[in-house]
Amino acid sequence: MRQRRRHLLSIAHLTSEELARVVERAAWYALSAQAGEACPRVLDGMVVGTYFRKTSTRTRTAFSSAALRLGAQVIAYGPDDLQENTGETVEDTGRVLSRMLDGLVVRTAGPDKELAAYAAQDRMAVVNAMSESEHPTQAVADLATIQLLRGGLEGARVLYVGEGNNSAVALALALTRFKGTELRVVTPPGYGLPEAAERAARAYAEEAGSTFVCAHDLDRVSASTEFVYTTRWQTTGTSKADPDWRTVFDPFRVDEALMARCPDARFLHDLPAHRGEEVTAEVLDGPASVAFDQAENKLHSAAAVLDRCLTGES
Ligand code: CP
Repeated sequence: MRQRRRHLLSIAHLTSEELARVVERAAWYALSAQAGEACPRVLDGMVVGTYFRKTSTRTRTAFSSAALRLGAQVIAYGPDDLQENTGETVEDTGRVLSRMLDGLVVRTAGPDKELAAYAAQDRMAVVNAMSESEHPTQAVADLATIQLLRGGLEGARVLYVGEGNNSAVALALALTRFKGTELRVVTPPGYGLPEAAERAARAYAEEAGSTFVCAHDLDRVSASTEFVYTTRWQTTGTSKADPDWRTVFDPFRVDEALMARCPDARFLHDLPAHRGEEVTAEVLDGPASVAFDQAENKLHSAAAVLDRCLTGES
């Protein structure tokens, strides 16, 4: 009998219980690795495709490495490899690949509806490895990092500073599901979360009894903040319409002065980083930074996501 495949296109497609389970599973993979235990070969005999139409260091390597460790074979496609470049439709590509692959991990370069087109079949699990609007597997790694550091997610207090980009969207759609959490998203004016994401996160927060605040100034940073999180100001190198955007972003750099306002906070960054731009080198390379553990947790999160999507386990 064929395995039941489950796509992961958006964090919003997971129930809160499913999200908690996949984060727990990611933490379990991390702890197993720390203990020197080999990964269970849950993907033995399976084939996973990775199709990255934009650059990636962490996500691509995390999914390839996780798939291999779990026993799958991997086929990697770059942006110039498939017949989509000569006019084959995304739908036909998805239909064909689904006859040959068990899972496809995709970083798109176009609109989000492309992901839905790859996922318009139930033979091959499709995983969003970052689209224009969301980076769901990053959020799994972020939450697993927080869970591992504080032993659970309930009550976690996070300050996100920077652009309301796809990592911020996924974080907001994920953390607000957990009771008693506090997520303050502070962005330059005009660079906040998209309205629909903000609305969805607000609804989750109401349901879970968590706090979700969007603001455009850093006046009210709480000393009890546990995690300060930022991301690159130019996601995958994308440009901004306003030629003066750096002036608007400058006050939102995470530096030692900001970290001193929440003295017990750890620093998170999804990487890649530009030292001196969104974060100073002193913070990124300093004692509060857990950004490189967070990067490693992308491997463990990829394992948890593949496990869930390809075997139905979590
Ligand atoms: N954080 C992240 O998605 O990194 P990559 O772009 O290198 O995959």
